[in-house]
Amino acid sequence: MCSEEEPVLNPAEGALRLGVLVSGRGSNLEAILDAIKQGKLSARVAVVISNKKDAPALERAARYQVPALFLDPTHYSRREEYDAAVLQQLKEFGVELVVLAGYMRLVTPTLIQPYHDRIINTHPSLLPAFPGMHAQRQALSYGVRVSGCTIHFVDEEMDHGPIIAQASVPVFEGDTIEQLSERILAEEHRLLPQVLQLYAEGKLTVDGRKVHIQESASTRSAR
Ligand code: GAR
Repeated sequence: MCSEEEPVLNPAEGALRLGVLVSGRGSNLEAILDAIKQGKLSARVAVVISNKKDAPALERAARYQVPALFLDPTHYSRREEYDAAVLQQLKEFGVELVVLAGYMRLVTPTLIQPYHDRIINTHPSLLPAFPGMHAQRQALSYGVRVSGCTIHFVDEEMDHGPIIAQASVPVFEGDTIEQLSERILAEEHRLLPQVLQLYAEGKLTVDGRKVHIQESASTRSAR
């Protein structure tokens, strides 16, 4: 039993500090917050930053009592200036790893260079297929039978950096954009926290375009 004099130790203290950039709904943010709550992800969300004032993601952050702020892009004339403001906030909150979770904005070298190999994005297609906006619509228009999601490190080209993990889903005859998006989203919710945990455990190394994932002893012995 703890006496009153004993310091209260926060189990999350010292855990990997995440900064999550969002623009909309925030279901991936919630998947991260849930994984932390359930003890499946040894990290804490230090700050959530949105480029959209009304992003429901901001409300989700508030529900989990995570600091969340809206940075208004219209107050900055250049993308680099906006990213410098984002960078300042990330530094103030001591962010070690940045997660783009439905962040619908191009990031510039102003942000990418200081966080080199420390920005992770989730994209709703099997890259390099269908980068950019409306990936699910692009996949349906193209007529692919399989699509999915890609979790990757961010480099200076859009949806291009080294791939950490991918998950595929089938595309069914007559799928709507919403049906395909939902199927893909379920995989993102599963995969993104897993990837973040691998990062937190120091198991990811980047070697050019390749990301090496260090296997745990238990995985190796299970073979
Ligand atoms: C996710 O499917 C994510 O992959 C996608 O937006 C959705 C955000 O959902 N991101 C992009 O398309 C970025 N190019 P969420 O706000 O509910 O997490």
